[in-house]
Amino acid sequence: MMPAVSPAPSAPSARSAPATGSPPLCARTAALGALREADPATKASATRALYAAVLDGSLPCPADLELDEPPELPGRPARPELVEPRKLGRRNMQSPQGRAVLLHALAHIEFNAINLALDAVWRFPGMPAAFYTDWLKVAAEEAYHFSLLSARLAEYGHAYGDFPAHDGLWDMCERTRGDVLARMALVPRTLEARGLDASPPIRARLQQAGDHASAAILDVILRDEIGHVLIGNRWFRHLCDNGGLDSHVTYTRLAEQYRAPKLRGPFNFEARRDAGFDEAELAELTALAGLDGEQTAPSGTTD
Ligand SMILES: [Fe+2]
Ligand SMILES: [Fe+2]
Repeated sequence: MMPAVSPAPSAPSARSAPATGSPPLCARTAALGALREADPATKASATRALYAAVLDGSLPCPADLELDEPPELPGRPARPELVEPRKLGRRNMQSPQGRAVLLHALAHIEFNAINLALDAVWRFPGMPAAFYTDWLKVAAEEAYHFSLLSARLAEYGHAYGDFPAHDGLWDMCERTRGDVLARMALVPRTLEARGLDASPPIRARLQQAGDHASAAILDVILRDEIGHVLIGNRWFRHLCDNGGLDSHVTYTRLAEQYRAPKLRGPFNFEARRDAGFDEAELAELTALAGLDGEQTAPSGTTD
């Protein structure tokens, strides 16, 4: 059975006080505070509480506030050890250990996704109010995904930090730190969209191995991730429209300029359509994969 998304928790408070001399507390300073938080469970619960506080109107969200970037973003725990992707081994889904390693890798992606969404909230001033609410919602959902995977990992006798992890996920965030248009193009519309493609084959492998509980978590994540990519598409197009830019040409230019990972099939066309990619973009993916509308074997990457 698919687990339901529970409401955001009421504790701990999203209002943990910023350091002396910091700007007045608001949703954007609190987002930066949560981004700096190193403990994963505290980061996740503070992020969900922050979104709840914005929804109930108890925390203002000033768009004009410009915040200085503190050193050493994002806050993260001493473990997992971060290694180059090629040093991570293959996972055998038939063994409990292999599935635990997979769940850990997914939890690591969600941990980074919390940071990526929080970063969009504090970093970019001058956006419409809905931009900040959208990214706080994404951050809260990523925190929920992280919590689901951590709980499942605990059922395998493991915790986040037990295995080495990929060191590249914060990289695109850093590259696009000065450009909200590039951030929207390349984080949600590229990296998160790759997750839409990768999810069905991973889910199938878990199901095949008899791990229905983990497969059900992937269902929740995929449903929410479609929403995240939709939010990315919405703000990417908003920024293109405001700047009088053609969204297709602009995406191609930014992907090249910021060295975005090359798109590779198979693509989850249904999820990508639901996530707001238009017919021209979908047709381009079809051509790219040389598929003529048919899907081929899964590649299985999620970042
Ligand atoms: Fe997620
Ligand atoms: Fe996401």
